[in-house]
Order: sequence, then structure tokens, then C-alpha cells
Amino acid sequence: MSTLTETTFKRIADIARRRWGLSLGERKMQLVANRLTSHLRKAGGGEIEDYVLRLERNPTEEDMLVLFDILSTNVTSFFRDPAHFAFLERELYAGLAKGTLALPGKRLRIWSAACSIGAEPYSLAMQVLELLPSSLGYDVKILATDLSNKALTGCREGVYTETQLTGLSPERRARFLKKVDPPKGATGTATHTPMWRVTDEVRRIVEVRRQNLVEPYTGLGPFDVIFLRNVMIYFDRDTRREVVMHMHGVMRPGSILAVGSAETLSGLDVPLRGAAPGMYLR
Ligand SMILES: C[S@@+](CC[C@H](N)C(=O)[O-])C[C@H]1O[C@@H](n2cnc3c(N)ncnc32)[C@H](O)[C@@H]1O
Repeated sequence: MSTLTETTFKRIADIARRRWGLSLGERKMQLVANRLTSHLRKAGGGEIEDYVLRLERNPTEEDMLVLFDILSTNVTSFFRDPAHFAFLERELYAGLAKGTLALPGKRLRIWSAACSIGAEPYSLAMQVLELLPSSLGYDVKILATDLSNKALTGCREGVYTETQLTGLSPERRARFLKKVDPPKGATGTATHTPMWRVTDEVRRIVEVRRQNLVEPYTGLGPFDVIFLRNVMIYFDRDTRREVVMHMHGVMRPGSILAVGSAETLSGLDVPLRGAAPGMYLR
């Protein structure tokens, strides 16, 4: 099996930038080489060069999604960056619950853009269920989108290991998760890894869909809250600005945008104002 040359890496980086806005610096070359080699080995062998030629000349949509999964990272966790959830509690749910704030049409629309395997949208859903009294009669929908097959499958299943649940308090685990039968191993016997499934109460308000963040957001919005966290770090500056401007187009006036703790909108010249670290208002 061939190794990944610098020229071939640049051709892959070019596909990633044009299709998904991903900016693959040279630091990523070894990682991409390892992942490509492992993918080709599992697929029965073949040369990296032939694989890349096929992607350039005649790719199917599925070929491209497989490449996207090879190149992208789905790291996530429940209630990641708790300050963002505290901000929502303070600035949104407290007012809604007290009646000092109301949303038009009694509709609350939240978008977890780049939702990975679901920890983020399900955390948002748990928070709504905890803080927004059902007696207020709000119609709540949380849209969870990603591009990755792996992420969308994980998010739709909503089944997690103990390790993936790190960050969830015992109270939340008791209220929002149910133990499920462990999956069967290769021999047909049950493995011993305990698995937990997000309850129907939580899943009911989350809709999972595919969306490439650098393609038009047709039919989406307007939203009251958007979580766009830990994905802009993979984009170059122009793509970041373009994506945030598209987000702005689907944000209701007064709505909230959260970005990851290592991300900022400063210097992007976008019409959103900072309200707290990582939190912006339209
Ligand atoms: C590191 S995860 C962040 C997950 C979650 N937002 C969080 O903060 O925990 C980044 C996610 O962005 C997704 N992603 C990257 N580029 C994307 C694009 N162009 N369109 C949609 N999703 C993208 C990846 O598939 C991955 O699931």
C-alpha cells in the first residue's frame, strides 16, 4: 500500500475545503495518512493515489461522506462548556418561566448545528425539560444537524456508554436515560459494556437531519438559539465569516448564538454582539 505524498495530501485538502469548508493544515497530514491507510485496509486494500483519483473524477455522494468521516472529528460531551447552558438558564429560561420574557407564537426553536453524536442537542433538550414549565404551553423543537454519517447515526440512536455520559449529573441520568440491553458481541453473546438510551421524553423534541454548514440553509429557521460550537475551528477565516452570516440569516432578532470556548467571532465583522464569553446576540 502506498504512502500519502505531500501533493496527494494537498489534493485531498482541496476537496475538503471546496466541499465542506474544512481547512486541513500540514499538521494534519500524518493523521490523514493513518486514517486513509486504515480505511483502505478495511476496504480490502488499494493505493491511496487510485482512491484520490476516484474521488476527484467520479465520486458518489456516499464516497464523499466516507471521506468526510475519515477527515473529521466528532469529539463531544454532555453539557460541554457548562457556562453556555448557565447563560441560557439566566438569560432565557428564567425570563420565560417568570413571564418577563415571551417568544413570538409561544414557539422555542433551537438549532444544534454540528451536533455530532447527539450529546449537545440532547443536553439542550434536557435543559428545556428542566427549566421551561410545561404549563406555559411552549411548542419546543430542537433541530440537530451534522454532515457525518457516523454522527447522524449516533445522534438518531441516542445510545451511549458510561464514558460518553461523563458530565451528566446522577439526577439527569436518572430522569433522562434508561439502561438498555448491551449489544451482542461477535460471538452472539452480550458484551458487558452498559449502554444508556436517551428517553422518549427527550428524543421527542429533537429532530435529526443532515446539513452541510457551507451549503444554503433552505427551509431552516428562524431560531431563538443556535449552538455552533467546536466546528469553526476546522474552517478558515473566510468560511467562518460566511457560515456565521448564514446563521445570522436564520436567527430571530434578539436570539442567541453560542460558539465553542476556543472560538470567537472577533475580527469577523459580523452583525452580532458579544454578551458573554462565546455567547452572541443578534
Ligand atoms: C468536534 S464536533 C463538535 C460537536 C458539538 N458541537 C460539540 O461542541 O460538542 C464537530 C462536528 O462538526 C461536524 N462538521 C464539520 N464540518 C461540517 C460541515 N461542513 N457541515 C456540517 N457539519 C460539519 C463534524 O461532523 C463533527 O460532528
